[in-house]
Amino acid sequence: MSRVTTILEDSAFVRACRRRPVPHTPVWFMRQAGRSLPEYRKIRAGVGMLESCRRPDLVTEITLQPVRRHGVDAAILFSDIVVPLAAAGVDLDIVAGTGPVVAEPIRTAADVARLRPLAAGDVGYVDEAVRLLVPELGPIPLIGFAGAPFTLASYLIEGGPSRTYLKTKAMMYGEPELWHALLAKLADITLAFLRVQVGAGVSAVQLFDSWAGALSEADYRRYVLPHSAKVLGGLAGAGVPRIHFGVGTAVLLRAMGEAGADVVGVDWRTPLDEATTLIGAEKAVQGNLDPAILFAPWEVVEREARRVLAEGKAAPGHVFNLGHGVMPETDPDVLTRLVDLVRSA
Ligand code: CP3
Repeated sequence: MSRVTTILEDSAFVRACRRRPVPHTPVWFMRQAGRSLPEYRKIRAGVGMLESCRRPDLVTEITLQPVRRHGVDAAILFSDIVVPLAAAGVDLDIVAGTGPVVAEPIRTAADVARLRPLAAGDVGYVDEAVRLLVPELGPIPLIGFAGAPFTLASYLIEGGPSRTYLKTKAMMYGEPELWHALLAKLADITLAFLRVQVGAGVSAVQLFDSWAGALSEADYRRYVLPHSAKVLGGLAGAGVPRIHFGVGTAVLLRAMGEAGADVVGVDWRTPLDEATTLIGAEKAVQGNLDPAILFAPWEVVEREARRVLAEGKAAPGHVFNLGHGVMPETDPDVLTRLVDLVRSA
């Protein structure tokens, strides 16, 4: 399918991703489209999470909500990392307050063999939603996204969220061939999902490896990096900036940068100047205000946001964001005020 639009190269967001001069530091928030907004809770009432991801009218409206309310510099598509897995036939649900739950976890060679590739036609509703959104957004770039193979594998193997990743690591260490077969299949699904979004007109993509921080650098390099690199490398010719993000990744930042992204997302534990020393001057950074700081008095929010902006100056490009997603209890007015502060700093 042909690309319907051009990447919004002149936007502050895309310029920062490409390490070009910017009129102001661009800002958006992970999980900006979601439960911190009353208008989101209203439109989602009585509609399941997966169902809402499959309805282009709802996806369009929910994606636009934080843009209208906060004036952020980028929109992120309303979807979820498990949407392509469900579309490829995995029996799963997204349970409110819990997260993804998989009916029959993937543990054996037969389970891995059953996982089928994603065809573009499986996610026609995502293609349609992006094509509706791009003209609605005008000058505001739309970020597409997917889950990285490790984080997707953790849900498929555990059957749901986990704190220890015991079953995941048991397969990784105990059955490395099966592990690599599973991650290779997930890399193909992820790449296919991102290609649909790029073909429909997103201006950037983010690969979420949210739980990669559970690994040492050596294990990340051996068991995960080649698969994430296949996804990011598969988009090299697409022309869109690629962001690579994980939580608790202080020891992985260098390796995550090597996987092929243009921008490395950094959680709140590593200051952006330190992160830049690790990642190098060839990549921009994204982050990294602690989402919990938004619950402190405004003076503290302002002080910490200015610190993040100052530390971000050490990087060749900086996209302001939180170190992880917006918490549902966050006061949306604080987010709006933070956007104003970052854009006028
Ligand atoms: O960022 C955005 O605003 C765009 C939408 C988005 C969602 N999930 C919507 C969502 C994005 C980018 C994601 C990615 C995602 N999903 C990740 C990677 C990012 C991260 O936070 O680390 C992960 C690990 C998931 C899996 C997942 N889905 C979790 C952990 C949860 C939260 C469970 C809960 O209820 O606390 C979900 C559900 C989910 N995805 C919600 C939203 C808005 C909440 C469900 C609801 O509103 O009913």
